Amino acid sequence: LLTSRDGLLEVTLTAAPGTQLAGRESSAWAYNGTSPGPTLRVKAGDLLRVKLVNNIDQPTNLHTHGLHVSPQANSDNPFVTVAPGNSFDYTIAVPADHPPGTYWYHPHHHGTVADQIFAGLAGALLVQDGLDLPVDDDIVLLVTDTTLDGAGNVIPPSPMVRMAGREGELVLVNGQYQPVITASPGTTHRWRIINGCVSRVLDLRLEGHRLTQIALDGVFLPAPAEHDRLVLAPGNRADLLVRPADSGRYALISEPYDRGGLGMMGDMMNGGSATRGPVTLATLHSQGPAAAAPPLPATLPAPPVPPDTVTARRQITFATGMGMGMGFTIDGRSFDPDRDDQRVQLGTTEEWTIVNTSRMDHPFHLHAWPFHVLTPPGTSPAAVRQDVVLVPAGGSVRLRIPFTDFAGRSVYHCHILDHEDLGMMATVNVS
Ligand code: C2O
Ligand code: CU
Ligand code: CU
Repeated sequence: LLTSRDGLLEVTLTAAPGTQLAGRESSAWAYNGTSPGPTLRVKAGDLLRVKLVNNIDQPTNLHTHGLHVSPQANSDNPFVTVAPGNSFDYTIAVPADHPPGTYWYHPHHHGTVADQIFAGLAGALLVQDGLDLPVDDDIVLLVTDTTLDGAGNVIPPSPMVRMAGREGELVLVNGQYQPVITASPGTTHRWRIINGCVSRVLDLRLEGHRLTQIALDGVFLPAPAEHDRLVLAPGNRADLLVRPADSGRYALISEPYDRGGLGMMGDMMNGGSATRGPVTLATLHSQGPAAAAPPLPATLPAPPVPPDTVTARRQITFATGMGMGMGFTIDGRSFDPDRDDQRVQLGTTEEWTIVNTSRMDHPFHLHAWPFHVLTPPGTSPAAVRQDVVLVPAGGSVRLRIPFTDFAGRSVYHCHILDHEDLGMMATVNVS
């Protein structure tokens, strides 16, 4: 855990091979020797300076997923390449009004994003301030998946599985296999769950409990929301309040989620989610005399809903071509970092309809400018701000996106990172 002091967090992150994973030695990649890397903790208004040192054998870079920061300078720039043996200095100014919450960091070098996260490169990034809720315990559960062979080497997927979106055989929480989290009845625990898996959708439930969600993608909901199940696409985060009332062992489970497949060969080409059973991520071990769960806060400090004056509407289509022309495209094109795919006027709010014509779900993610999902069509924006939304196979979602601050150029893409690496990414230029 690295925490800012006097408005500054200065940190060196060294990406290098070799770390423990699931309790054994592996060839996995680590930041500063651990996978996941250190949790970075800043406050709104802070300056985050990261020196990224590349000691792996291929180019990499760093992205602060979900931060509402300027894409100018180099703070949110997927276009930077840091060659092996080189380093790069990132300066990220977190705005003074940035919502406190749960974010994360990961490599974003186009073509190898999935490989590098699958190999172990990811970490949590928390923005904290006085709005945070009083809780007895506050922990990050960074969920990742990977596949290791008997010698501890990370095993890359076949080209087919890559197209489906790889799902690792080993699902880890903070690099551990099925950790036990202890708690006493009558206490409140904040669990910051990050879906850091390359392609796996988490469909969460907690035995013996409903899920009490207080934040999505780093941002507080207007009030706590209770769910039996909670779906998190790759990249999504959910903060939960866990309040055991009696002793017991309760598994945190991800149920299989069918995100569709490439079609022709069905399940064989699915990353595996539809064909596997539930996965236990962790176990809540509650011990002690029974005690009533503490009350929930009635409201939460959610940020204001953006204005509904929409100045432009766009439709953006995610498609997967079949057969010889197998491709992962947005509006019929594959990623080109030099092309401007959307030009947006700074200071405006837009409505984007994301259409998915393929037979598999694609989680839409936009850097730098978080959005509100409009459901159902015609209604006002949900008071919930997020940065990844699952666009169902054959369906669409409508988003309201305030481009009211931060000029600059960045990207939107499918957060099934194999799809992003295969070209399902495009650029937006706000000026
Ligand atoms: Cu978490 Cu552009 O990604
Ligand atoms: Cu991102
Ligand atoms: Cu996709």
